[in-house]
Amino acid sequence: MPKPKAQLPWFGLMAALALFLLPEACIAGRRNKDCGFTLCGDVNISYPFRLTSQPRECGVRRLELECDSNNRTTLVMKYGRFYVQNISYVYHTIQVIDANLGRNDCSLPRSSFISDSICKTPYRASYHARSFMYLVNCTTPIKSSLYVDASRCPDRSFLPPTYFYFLDQQTKPRDFDQFCTVEARVPVELENISNVSTLDIYEKLLLGFELSWRYFDDHLLYCAEDKLQVM
Ligand SMILES: *[C@@H]1O[C@H](CO)[C@@H](O)[C@H](O)[C@H]1NC(C)=O
Ligand SMILES: *[C@@H]1O[C@H](CO)[C@@H](O)[C@H](O)[C@H]1NC(C)=O
Ligand SMILES: *[C@@H]1O[C@H](CO)[C@@H](O)[C@H](O)[C@H]1NC(C)=O
Ligand SMILES: *[C@@H]1O[C@H](CO)[C@@H](O)[C@H](O)[C@H]1NC(C)=O
Ligand SMILES: *[C@@H]1O[C@H](CO)[C@@H](O)[C@H](O)[C@H]1NC(C)=O
Ligand SMILES: *[C@@H]1O[C@H](CO)[C@@H](O)[C@H](O)[C@H]1NC(C)=O
Repeated sequence: MPKPKAQLPWFGLMAALALFLLPEACIAGRRNKDCGFTLCGDVNISYPFRLTSQPRECGVRRLELECDSNNRTTLVMKYGRFYVQNISYVYHTIQVIDANLGRNDCSLPRSSFISDSICKTPYRASYHARSFMYLVNCTTPIKSSLYVDASRCPDRSFLPPTYFYFLDQQTKPRDFDQFCTVEARVPVELENISNVSTLDIYEKLLLGFELSWRYFDDHLLYCAEDKLQVM
């Protein structure tokens, strides 16, 4: 019985069309091999995740992580870098923390998490981390209860003078001061930041936040013009 043969021309045509029409990242296709686990620091990197240092065929490109020279697992996104604290392969979550943030220094959370098309980023804010705040940089001090001081080191001076504040995600456009620029959209596991002190905000930030990751077998995922189709 010559059954599978009849379907081959159709499949070949689809594959040729796919190769012709679709961006390279979305058709990485059959390369996604499970190469076993690898460790970066104490983070266990298993399929479908991969490290940049692994052979090309291992894991899924969209779930690529870097292992830096200090053995910190790093998630590099378009608007920021985050250190990975752990990955749950059971709950499909990943705990990350802004790579700019130090525990006992004057650093600011400068990385933004912005959900993109699933073809570009497989990460979504998880249930616990659906809130965020803005980090703004102002050329003049702002006296308003909406503006929470974002500096852990009040004496730190910038030239030209710069004042950093956190603004709640629900801040209305008219409450953005003309002397301020939004520097980052910072995820934080706080419902809102009204009446939360600067140090309490940093306590939360230093615990990181949780993202969910989705994984579709790449040859079932076709990404054309940013639209997702699972065939
Ligand atoms: C890493 O994770 C894989 C898959 O969950 C598991 O088989 C392996 O034992 C883990 N390795 C370590 C060192 O935890
Ligand atoms: C990183 O991990 C590797 C392998 O476990 C180890 O040989 C190396 O010394 C570590 N480097 C640092 C900076 O901790
Ligand atoms: C991941 O790390 C966070 C913060 O350290 C912790 O709350 C969470 O339980 C950890 N999850 C897993 C799966 O280890
Ligand atoms: C503050 O924002 C301005 C305008 O975007 C920028 O030029 C400047 O570098 C920022 N200052 C700091 C200290 O980030
Ligand atoms: C802010 O969050 C607290 C709980 O953390 C809640 O009681 C309060 O109603 C919230 N305020 C606004 C304006 O959402
Ligand atoms: C913040 O605290 C002040 C005084 O403790 C209180 O009057 C005010 O209603 C609080 N604001 C919010 C949004 O909870």
